[in-house]
Amino acid sequence: MSFKSLPIIDLALADDPSTKQELLDRLADALFRVGFLYLVNHGVEKEADELMELMPEVFAVSDEEKQKVAMTTNPHFVGYTKLGAEMTARAVDQREQFDFGSATEVDPLNPDVSDKTNPQWRRIQGPSPYLPDSVLPGFRKKVETYISKMDRLSNRLLGLIGECLKLDSDALMPFVGRMNRLKLVKYPGSEENKQGVGPHKDSSGLLTLLLQDSVGGLEVLNSDGEWVPAKPVPNSFVVNMAQGFEALTGGRCTATSHRVISPPPGVTRYSIPYFSSVRLDLTLDMINKQLDYIQGRIPEPTDQKRRNNQASTEFLDPKYSCFGEAHLRNRIISHRDVAAIWYKDIKDKYLAEVL
Ligand SMILES: [Fe+2]
Repeated sequence: MSFKSLPIIDLALADDPSTKQELLDRLADALFRVGFLYLVNHGVEKEADELMELMPEVFAVSDEEKQKVAMTTNPHFVGYTKLGAEMTARAVDQREQFDFGSATEVDPLNPDVSDKTNPQWRRIQGPSPYLPDSVLPGFRKKVETYISKMDRLSNRLLGLIGECLKLDSDALMPFVGRMNRLKLVKYPGSEENKQGVGPHKDSSGLLTLLLQDSVGGLEVLNSDGEWVPAKPVPNSFVVNMAQGFEALTGGRCTATSHRVISPPPGVTRYSIPYFSSVRLDLTLDMINKQLDYIQGRIPEPTDQKRRNNQASTEFLDPKYSCFGEAHLRNRIISHRDVAAIWYKDIKDKYLAEVL
């Protein structure tokens, strides 16, 4: 049956051997039936509160300071993006945001970012610009601490997910990338229900762990085509599977479409999504080997409407050499201002695909 609300998963159950199996069963049900869940007792409550409290100050920084850390200052798709500069589902999103990554260095295989002989997707990984302490004291430290806590939490969750799918607990780890990502997002209030961010599946990673404030606006599509609100639950993360995860499970655990409706006039929504990444050099061959391994291990979902037999090709089209190239193509389409500066020579090839 199609879901009408998102299940709540209590991570504390994993700490006690007498309740761990119950947690694994609930987790498997959430993955197969919904693709979304609330995670509580996750251990990052303090850091999450501190970062969310800082959000109004972060966005109140002057335009001049924001532009100094703009996404257009680097080829790694990290930094500040002003309202209306990003597109989803061919429409402009009404949100303002700062993007960060867990990488502190450029890809070691491409130390010289001006070297055009290396594949261009190797330029995606690199350090993030931060508002300096002189502008917002303690900002960088808070964000970096949060990212490293989330790196640990998402790896722990991937281990439990592996177990609940009857795989080895480290079965998914070889697919994790080197640069997990974090966004600080502000959705301003607007007149009519505008597109905060349009309907989409998360394309770029394995899992998304979203910290949202008490405003609401996130909606999740069930298999009957109804939009189910992901109402705010205190001290929780909203977790969902991204298309990389769907591909690695052969479509048995599908990524679920979602959207954000802008808040009403005078109300601001803040949210902080964290994306655990897929390794950029992942190829279709590697996905197919993983599918050989999971064949017969992961149970089939009971809701056949949620089964997506095209999972790996939707995630990684055979026309791209690896996930890094497919990911770069998506970034170029979403952030055309960055592409015009840093990916001049190759951008037209990818933009032509969506004209
Ligand atoms: Fe999303």
